[in-house]
Amino acid sequence: MGATAVIGAQWGDEGKGKVIDLLAERADLVVRYSGGNNAGHTVINHLGEFRLHLVPAGIFNEQTTCVIGNGVAVDPEVLIGEMDQLEASGIDTTRLMVSDRAHLVLPFHRLLDRLEEERLAEHAIGTTLRGIGPAFSEKTARRGIRAGDLADREALLKKLEAALTYANLLITRVYGHDPLQLDEIFAKCMTWGDRLSGRIQQTELMINEALHEGREVLLEGAQGTLLDLDFGTYPFVTSSHPGASGAYQGAGIGPVRIERIVGIFKAYCTRVGEGPFPTELHTSEGDHIREFGHEYGVTTGRPRRIGWFDAPMARLSNLVNGYTSVILTRLDVLDQMETISVCTGYRLDGEVVEYPPSGMTVLLRCEPILEQLEGWQQSTNDFRHFQDLPDNARTYVHRLEELIGAPVSMLSVGPRRDENIIVRAAL
Ligand code: GDP
Ligand code: IMO
Ligand code: MG
Repeated sequence: MGATAVIGAQWGDEGKGKVIDLLAERADLVVRYSGGNNAGHTVINHLGEFRLHLVPAGIFNEQTTCVIGNGVAVDPEVLIGEMDQLEASGIDTTRLMVSDRAHLVLPFHRLLDRLEEERLAEHAIGTTLRGIGPAFSEKTARRGIRAGDLADREALLKKLEAALTYANLLITRVYGHDPLQLDEIFAKCMTWGDRLSGRIQQTELMINEALHEGREVLLEGAQGTLLDLDFGTYPFVTSSHPGASGAYQGAGIGPVRIERIVGIFKAYCTRVGEGPFPTELHTSEGDHIREFGHEYGVTTGRPRRIGWFDAPMARLSNLVNGYTSVILTRLDVLDQMETISVCTGYRLDGEVVEYPPSGMTVLLRCEPILEQLEGWQQSTNDFRHFQDLPDNARTYVHRLEELIGAPVSMLSVGPRRDENIIVRAAL
């Protein structure tokens, strides 16, 4: 059996955590494959309410082994804190493994993230300030420290010294800030190494073996395709690849080992941080969705920007990921709306465009073409069968399906694990 990749199809926060927790009920392995603790994945199930930043959302299922893959940037302090919190809630974390190739997010990455955002001032990207951009920059610049490096103290000290020397040059000479101290960071690395030692492994071997044996493997995405380094609204993006290409690269498997590519879409759009957002609402409808849907960031607590469903963005997301099916979340958040708009295309210089242009200045000139649909003004929270939903809700789902160009397999109508409607049996 091939792997299933669960991918954020918009600007993140689509409900990946909920979906992974649900699908992991039958998974042997759940692998986080990209991003870092810029992610915030909410899980609400019979064990409680959890906000995960690094630990895969499969951790609540006792038979599931969880892997933080090579494509993830790992802040060991955050990871250990998260493991402690889970353990304190009675969740067993001994089934959690970390790839030895995963790069570490270190204190100087966090500092550099903040200093650069401060320097950019009104042009800032609005990052989560978790050091993710600087950590991935170091990875590509070949100065990074990897989880596997924690095992060899002597070699680690040399690598850390080299990385910190460079970082301190930036910190002091570019930003005029005090340098960070090697001994303090090294001491932290020692503690992290002791705590994580048994878990740091060549996880690509483990994942491929599981696939070979026909076991169920889920690949857990972070962020969303519209934040992808190549296909997102560059430069207002994250520093990794949240889509299907990131899934096989960040887990260490061949692309054809992925059998199902499931795109998670909200029934509307949200975005945190800066950057173009063609369907953004600055009206009371946007405020209603934000308050009714509690649209505040899990990682930073920032209010999320709200917009109508954006078909050009959704088409691009499907184009570059090739969704075999789609899960539509937060349909219930639209329950009270009298009318709901969807953007079917953009108008640019008098022409209709179906896909977002890649350049920011051009994208900013695009005007959304809106189509209005009737709301259903009824709670969908308790529905469990698609045919029982109000007609207008079904029409809305079918319209989004048509616009995305991929079949909807499931609807999510509440934050809890069991608040779903299966539309088509196969994911
Ligand atoms: P993720 O980053 O993709 O895992 O998503 P987040 O956890 O950041 O944000 C999704 C939010 O929506 C969380 O608060 C979830 O509990 C919640 N959620 C997920 N699915 C639904 C749904 O269908 N309806 C409602 N009302 N909330 C949902
Ligand atoms: P999950 O996995 C929503 C956004 C930030 C910012 C941009 C760059 O919960 O869906 P970064 O710190 O990555 O350098 O910030 O990316 N961002 C997210 N937005 N959900 C996320 O993750 C995000 N991770 C990063 O707000 O705009
Ligand atoms: Mg989130």
